[in-house]
This record gives sequence, structure tokens and C-alpha cells, in this order.
Amino acid sequence: MTDLTTEAAANAGVRTVPADQRAEVVAARYPAHDGAARLYGDSISQDADVLYRRLRAEYGAVAPVLLEGDIPAWLVLGYREAHFVAGRSDLYDRDSARWNAWDLVPPDWPMRTAVGKGDSITWVTGAEHTRRSDAIHDVLAAVDLFEIRDRCERVADELIDTFADRGQAELMYMYAHLIPVQVMANTFGIPAEETAGLVRDLVTLFDHGAGALAAYGRLMGLMTRLIEQRRQGEGFDTISRLLRHRAAYTDDEALQDLFAVIASAQQPVAYWIGNTLRLLLADTRFATSLAGGRRSVGQAMSEVLWEDPPVANFTGRWAVRTGQLGSQRIQAGDMLVLSVAAANNDPEVRPDSAAGPGGNQAYLTFGHGEHRCPFPAQELAEVVAQTAVEVLLDRLPDLTLAVPAEDLVWNPAIWVRGLATLPVTFTPA
Ligand code: HEM
Repeated sequence: MTDLTTEAAANAGVRTVPADQRAEVVAARYPAHDGAARLYGDSISQDADVLYRRLRAEYGAVAPVLLEGDIPAWLVLGYREAHFVAGRSDLYDRDSARWNAWDLVPPDWPMRTAVGKGDSITWVTGAEHTRRSDAIHDVLAAVDLFEIRDRCERVADELIDTFADRGQAELMYMYAHLIPVQVMANTFGIPAEETAGLVRDLVTLFDHGAGALAAYGRLMGLMTRLIEQRRQGEGFDTISRLLRHRAAYTDDEALQDLFAVIASAQQPVAYWIGNTLRLLLADTRFATSLAGGRRSVGQAMSEVLWEDPPVANFTGRWAVRTGQLGSQRIQAGDMLVLSVAAANNDPEVRPDSAAGPGGNQAYLTFGHGEHRCPFPAQELAEVVAQTAVEVLLDRLPDLTLAVPAEDLVWNPAIWVRGLATLPVTFTPA
């Protein structure tokens, strides 16, 4: 998950290798990365499955890869290996200060925010993580899922009203991205008049384009104001509950963690909605059944979690000591990227993935181990995504893709699996 509270201290005092010497240093220090595949570039995410298959064939469960700027890392493609790394924080921890490639990282490296150690729940470990994780779990578990479903139905209906009479729509930016946080804002006690700005800023932030930094500033400003207000009175919203929790949160911890929760809720849920709609509309097994009722929305959602996991790859793990992983020798301080998308389709654990997942929920889509997605968050995500899909299909039953399925474009970033746009047509209602 993105943590924008990056602190430069992780690599303070490290002299950056000049750009023209970087390739030489990489070749000498990381010989296994000679000729390694680049995990970036405009078209890579369009054919990510082909890349995973090629890397698996060449290297097995763990492959050397180059991140943006040709910075070396290991891509963990094997299910067992990814499960092991995520579950063994004593061997692979979250402390980016131990990274042995900091001196290769240019000051304007676009991924700094994803690897620089922050102060939120995403980065803290051990007893400190348990204290905060228990609190997040408790406040999310207190959310009434029936209320969430009701609210989601209302939000979905209002959004559909804005385009129902047009006969066509682009569902990612007119629907999917606008739903998750708009639904959750109420739970957080965020005033209605602030919600539209909050949703806009989160979408801008995750698009990483111009205005992302300003959006981040506004989001932190809003959360700070809300925390100050809630300190003054008794409320039953998520922020008030967190501030009252026995974990005794400071204002700064609350700011970091509330932001982490709200940011984690936005993009993955939007992509879960979009990827499910794509499957339902593009795949003949589901397309037939939309009319015939053979396969349900729930089945499509579950298939998406296996095949198109919204958080496709994530980083934030560094080797504590030198050791073997798969057939690779990992050096202390090496960075690992866990590929949920590849691990979920590892032929070692799913020899016949074409058969579909059935009721199997052993995917790594919500992570694993100490930092996995909190269970109440997963339930919340499911209620929101399922309601959003069902209301749309109910209101616009003859929804059809406006372009051939193979022309749909995925978000270019390898880190996520979600459609850039989802154009559809339907009978105006
Ligand atoms: C489809 C929806 C979602 C997916 C695929 C997803 C996926 C993930 C994954 C893979 C991680 C682990 C990252 C790591 O180990 O580095 C994670 C962590 C987290 N997620 Fe989710 N998530 C989803 C929805 C949500 C929602 C709705 C919320 C909040 C309401 C949320 C809150 C969090 C938090 C707070 C963490 C950090 C946990 C920790 O570090 O202890 N997630 N999520």
C-alpha cells in the first residue's frame, strides 16, 4: 500500500551513485540481475501474465527484475515462496533502512513513496504493529455492514442517475472510482459537503499525475481537522472510536493510520468493481448467465480475486539476512516484490486454473501474515463491491461493452490490476 509519509532518513547520509555509473555498479554488485526483465514501461501491464510465465520458465519461483530506473529487486512468483516471505517477518521485514540499493536510487525516483519507511500501520512492526492493528481491526469490525450496503445502494443509484439517460458511459471514472470512499465517508463521520472533494483528491492521488501532491496536502489537512474536532466530543464514527480506543493513539498516529485505511480502501475496491464488471460482460460463461442466471456476481468477484487481483504486486519487504529463496541466493538487504498476480496462478498450486476457483479462497490477494489486509476491511470491501455491481446490473440490465474485450486497456502500472477505462453502452433508462 502507498505510504506518502516517506522519510528521507532511511537513506540519509548515503552518497547517490551518479546516473552514468549506475549500470556498472549494478552489474558488479548484483550479477544475477544481468539481463533481468524490466518491471516497468508503458505496455508491460497489458501483457503481465505473459511476463510472469516467461520469468517463471526462466528462473522458477523467484526472478531478478529491474524496477523503474533499473533498480534491482527480486520478484517472488511462487505461491509457497510469496506465502513464506509474507509470513516470516523475522526473515523478511519492513525496514527499508536495510536496503542495500539506496545509493542507486535517484532523488526523484517515482517509487520512493512506496519504499521509504513511514510511520503508519503499514510500516510499524512487532508490539507496536499489534497495538495499532488490533485497534484498526476493532474500529472496522464495529462498522455496520447492513448500513454500508444501504448507503452503497444509495450512492450507486445517484451515480447511475447521472448517466442513465445517455445510453453510454465510462464506468471507471463515472462509477467505480467514485463509490468506495463515498460509501465509507459517512462511517468516518466526514461531513457530506467534504465528501466530493475527498473522493476527487483520492482519485487524483492514485492517478499520480499533476496535482497529486496538492491533493495529498488537502487530504492530510482534512484528516487533521477531523481528528481535532473528534477530540472535542463523543462520536460513534470510525475516527472517534479510534481516538477512544485503549490503544491510546496520539493525533499523529491517528492521522497516519486513518489515512492508510482510507487510502487502502479506495483503489483496490474500485478495481475489484471494474474487474468484476469486465468479467461479467466479456466472458461468455458469465455473459450468457447474466440473462440465464447460471453464474452469480459472487462467483465473478471470487474469480477476479484469483485471476485479476486489484493489488497485483507489492513491495516493502527486505531480506534480514542472506539465504536461499526458490533457486536464488538472496543477499541481506535485497528488496523483494511479492507478485500476488503470479502467485495466485502458480501452476504448482493451481495446476488447472482454467477450471475456476470453485469455493477456494486461498488466494494471496489480501496479503498474508502480520500485515495482511484486516479481515473486517475485506468484508467491507466485499459488501461495497458486490452492491455496486448488483445495483448497476439491476438498473441497466442490457449493459454491453462498447469496445471488444481485447481492446480494453489496463492501468499501465504493474503494481495494480485494474482497467484504465471501461466504456459501455445500454438502453437509456
Ligand atoms: C479488494 C479490496 C482490497 C484488496 C485487494 C486489499 C489488499 C491488501 C493487501 C495485499 C494488503 C497487504 C499489503 C502488505 O502486506 O504489504 C493490504 C493491507 C491493508 N489493507 Fe487492504 N485491500 C483491500 C481493501 C481494503 C479496505 C476496504 C480497507 C479499509 C477499509 C483496507 C485496509 C488495509 C489496511 C489498513 C492494510 C494494512 C495492514 C497492515 O499493514 O497491518 N483494505 N490490503
